[in-house]
Amino acid sequence: MTPFTVNDTELSLERFPPVVEQQLQAWDAADELLVAQHQLDAGEIWILNDHFGAIAVGLRAEDEQRPLRWVNDSYVALQALEQNLELNEMAPLLSCHQQVEQLAEHGRPAGVIIKLPRNLRLLTNQLDWLNQHLPAGTPIVIGARQKDMPSTLPDLTRQLLEHVQPSRAVKKARLIYGHSGEQQSGLPLLNSWFCDEINQTVHNLPNTYGSQRLDIGARLLLANLPNCKGSVIDLGCGNGVLTAAMAKYNPQCDIIATDESWHGLAACKLNTEDHADRIDYQWNDCLSSVEGGSVDLVLCNPPFHQQQAVTDHIAWQMFRDAKRVLKTGGRLRIVGNRHLAYHIKLTRLFGGYDTIASNAKFVVLEAQKRRQELDY
Ligand SMILES: C[S@@+](CC[C@H](N)C(=O)[O-])C[C@H]1O[C@@H](n2cnc3c(N)ncnc32)[C@H](O)[C@@H]1O
Repeated sequence: MTPFTVNDTELSLERFPPVVEQQLQAWDAADELLVAQHQLDAGEIWILNDHFGAIAVGLRAEDEQRPLRWVNDSYVALQALEQNLELNEMAPLLSCHQQVEQLAEHGRPAGVIIKLPRNLRLLTNQLDWLNQHLPAGTPIVIGARQKDMPSTLPDLTRQLLEHVQPSRAVKKARLIYGHSGEQQSGLPLLNSWFCDEINQTVHNLPNTYGSQRLDIGARLLLANLPNCKGSVIDLGCGNGVLTAAMAKYNPQCDIIATDESWHGLAACKLNTEDHADRIDYQWNDCLSSVEGGSVDLVLCNPPFHQQQAVTDHIAWQMFRDAKRVLKTGGRLRIVGNRHLAYHIKLTRLFGGYDTIASNAKFVVLEAQKRRQELDY
């Protein structure tokens, strides 16, 4: 693995949480290119969607006096940034925010660096906001590996930016230089659709998981929700379809709805506001802030990728955390694609599982915590 080097300084960068067995890098060629060739004048830079803090750490290594503001929807990305600043003995940034709208009170930056998000609705929302709030002519640089650039990106950037100029490709990554203008996409902030399964409209922010339609795994889990009178966690709640259903049909339960995506959690709040007095909303990494042995039921439709990488380490972390926070006798009910073979993980952690429902593609499985164990 070649190191990420800025001004002859070799930087230490790790993913969060570290994924030792998969040898996944915490940066890519687009991060290197953004740091080396942003072409922004002296002054404050705003950094958007920097997955593991590599761009911020690289810019700090380039000029430690330059003020940096950082925006990322992801709690895990924030942990990665803090970890990597510390690993390189660098001071914290000027400020960190969850969404671009929170930058409203800050003055004009010298420029904006955007790492292309997986989700083009998020990019569109960010460019719309920058065009509304920055003086026309503020430089904006977008970077990505070529294989992550969708075919619609050139049209989108030409629609929303002035003087668009792509860079030459370096190590199969490319930058798109442009300037803010006055254009707006016309795309609404919320994407809303009616969900028959819970008989209500579901609102989604641009980076909410499943913002276009109900996830098919979630559909099977919704049809097989248990009854519960105690404490419930919706782990990785996204837009909160599971939280909403539990709150509606189980009036005696209290729920923790938690997600690492700020847009996920914000949508969950919108979709469950009728039951907000029974719901504790947490922006967090899995269940790191939940007390051990305190919960009756955990519901989970786990993700199987982190950024561009397909990985099962988040599912593992979710199942381990679930076991830790469950009371003895408490249950973890999950849904997953059959090919992910979650039953193997549940057997290793809980010693067994029941199949609650299945269809051609998905299974709903449940495991019970049989006894309090010291070693999780
Ligand atoms: C497959 S989606 C499920 C969303 C929703 N519960 C549903 O069933 O439609 C997985 C969710 O897990 C969240 N997630 C991913 N990594 C996480 C982590 N480390 N901690 C908490 N949530 C996480 C994602 O943001 C996403 O909303």
